[in-house]
Amino acid sequence: MLALASDHGGFELKQAVKDYLDEKHIPYTDFGCFTGESCDYPDMARLACDAVVDGRCDKALLFCGTGIGISMAANKIKGIRAAACSDWFSAKYTRAHNDANALCLGGRVVGPGLAIELVDVFLNTPFEGGRHSRRVDKLTALEEQR
Ligand code: RB5
Repeated sequence: MLALASDHGGFELKQAVKDYLDEKHIPYTDFGCFTGESCDYPDMARLACDAVVDGRCDKALLFCGTGIGISMAANKIKGIRAAACSDWFSAKYTRAHNDANALCLGGRVVGPGLAIELVDVFLNTPFEGGRHSRRVDKLTALEEQR
């Protein structure tokens, strides 16, 4: 189960990705927003990321204008490893090496065709583990440090 959320800047791109997920019968919960009216990306990130952290969802797909604001918000939530991506290589390797559990896309940066490719590679690339596990463990440890 995927957790989706966007602000107004990512609303249309989220709709395009939802059409793709529907076509592929990939289940998701959309935590909003549900119209193109202005809202705040930290609030939207929280709703979807909480669902990932508490196990209701496996990964999050997050959308704002740039993909950056919502990734910053998501990365403040314990247990979330979010990556703002606009190229295929980054979307692949943030799964393979960082075990990212949230992909953040910018509705004003990437078109729907590229966004779908990014979602596809993100969802289908496993974490490689091995030496990368040590680094991801250190990322988690940073959550407890000041
Ligand atoms: C909203 O206008 C815009 O600032 C937001 O969607 C996002 O791009 C922030 O990073």
